[in-house]
Amino acid sequence: MKRIGMLTSGGDCQALNATMRGVVKGLHGSFKDVEIYGFLEGYKGLMYGNYRILKPEDFSGILTKGGTILGSSRQPFKLMREPDENGMDKVKAMKDTYKKLKLDCLVVLGGNGSQKTANLLSEEGLNVIGLPKTIDNDLWGTDMTFGFQSAVDIATEAIDCIHTTAASHGRVFIVEIMGHKVGWITLHAGIAGGADIILIPEIPYDIKNVCKALDKRAKEGKGFSILAVAEGAISKEVASLPKKERKAAIANSKYPSVAYEIADQIREYSGTEVRVTVPGHTQRGGSPCPYDRVLSSRFGAKAAELIKEEKYGELVVLKNNEVTSIPLSESAGKLKYVSPDDSIVKNAKMLGISFGD
Ligand code: F6P
Repeated sequence: MKRIGMLTSGGDCQALNATMRGVVKGLHGSFKDVEIYGFLEGYKGLMYGNYRILKPEDFSGILTKGGTILGSSRQPFKLMREPDENGMDKVKAMKDTYKKLKLDCLVVLGGNGSQKTANLLSEEGLNVIGLPKTIDNDLWGTDMTFGFQSAVDIATEAIDCIHTTAASHGRVFIVEIMGHKVGWITLHAGIAGGADIILIPEIPYDIKNVCKALDKRAKEGKGFSILAVAEGAISKEVASLPKKERKAAIANSKYPSVAYEIADQIREYSGTEVRVTVPGHTQRGGSPCPYDRVLSSRFGAKAAELIKEEKYGELVVLKNNEVTSIPLSESAGKLKYVSPDDSIVKNAKMLGISFGD
């Protein structure tokens, strides 16, 4: 009998259920008897012993279902070593639950912070396998995370819809896309949606250059322009501040988000009409796209294979189109940023897309 714990941690995404289904199908194909313990609301369920024993039928019909049947919550890694409000040692509590249920392995579907905690639990002696979730695609060590492509599809669709109305009215539109620290979704959706300007956290912008790019388009007779702007896009001015001041400048901004600030600056500069659209959490909702369904199913099968081989402490990853794994410790604590030198950025610039840099 194999007893496997599973949890979904951090911000949700479209292919969490598809991935869990892949793991469970793979396990049932590999072992005669498997018992799945689904912890509710991420690490919280593991800490407080809230779980459901899941049957194979619980995983039927969920390939296309967004969200997570287990629920999720954000449990910041930096607070893991701090006791909860009742003085409970969270790491000890998680280990106790694992041992009490006599688990053979814990499967963690999560992004960067969640995989740091997975690595911590692995270092504490538990058998852990990580699966790379996040719409942001910023987990170090994998070419692709599940959820990313589905979010790109939704963000692209938002830009597509804006295109037609922007053209009708001859307006400048800003579409603000998810990604506080990294700009992968904005970069991909921006290119896919034919945005004229792409602003991402990794390439600080100068508003004068943004306005110049808009002027250039206007002079070429283009009646409208579209900016794809990441939530975490940052001006050169703010980026050059020391960390503390930079954080304060962002926190104390009078605007609800960066897109509104940029909109005001463009209006002031050129007097043109500017509109802002924020697809927000729609980017994490709905069904996973076919690409994610395939990726998640492959990731799930790989996790089952690792459990069969008793190869623990690993993060399942995609490398050069092959599903493989790397030690959790190799990825923990590192983010995969867009580099201004990445070929995709250079390609975009060749197409005339401005990054405002
Ligand atoms: O990490 C995924 C993500 O969707 C980011 O792109 C976004 O900045 C953040 O989560 C939003 O977090 P929350 O759902 O807690 O508002």
